[in-house]
Amino acid sequence: MVRTALLLLCLHLNLAWTQESVPRPVPLRASNMARVSGSWRSISMASNDLKRIEENGDLRVFIRHIEHLRNGSLKFDFRFMIQGDCVAVTVVCEKMKNDREYSIVYNGKNKVTVLETDFWVYLTFHLQNLRNGTKTQVLGLYGRIPQLDHSYLDRFKKICKTYGLSSQNIIDMTNQDHCPFKR
Ligand SMILES: *[C@@H]1O[C@H](CO)[C@@H](O)[C@H](O)[C@H]1NC(C)=O
Ligand SMILES: *[C@@H]1O[C@H](CO)[C@@H](O)[C@H](O)[C@H]1NC(C)=O
Repeated sequence: MVRTALLLLCLHLNLAWTQESVPRPVPLRASNMARVSGSWRSISMASNDLKRIEENGDLRVFIRHIEHLRNGSLKFDFRFMIQGDCVAVTVVCEKMKNDREYSIVYNGKNKVTVLETDFWVYLTFHLQNLRNGTKTQVLGLYGRIPQLDHSYLDRFKKICKTYGLSSQNIIDMTNQDHCPFKR
């Protein structure tokens, strides 16, 4: 009896330890948005116009840091590559009327919506770009660490689907950021 109980306990602990962490989004409000601040890494991106997020695309950016400013705006610190050179870009996205929505003029007009996050593992956003009369959609998955478990990628795929983007529209951004970490 005792042995069986111990065995079961061991099995249970083992399972608990090997279990993947899973996305647990928290409700987003103006009052907790500041928790998005800190380091992030680009994990995945998706777009209906892949040219813009593939190599040399103008929206292929690698996130390094987000800062929630006191006036509610979000400051993004990015890296991107121009002909093999790393360029650091800092942009401020102004808070719009709705919590979670931000606007920025960068390669056109953009509306950025934070779709979900748990603040400590992952963040998903949607970006609508309007340039020269053309609308482009971009979705992004960021992680606090450079790789995320499959459950996060699967969830990202599902979210992309709700925006009409299939797996062919999704690209892997891990191990692609070759810019130095010190400025
Ligand atoms: C919020 O603060 C940032 C940094 O000081 C500034 O660039 C931005 O214009 C401000 N936004 C508003 C709406 O005042
Ligand atoms: C905008 O559209 C015009 C006309 O189609 C084109 O000549 C121009 O290069 C476009 N600009 C950009 C930034 O795509």
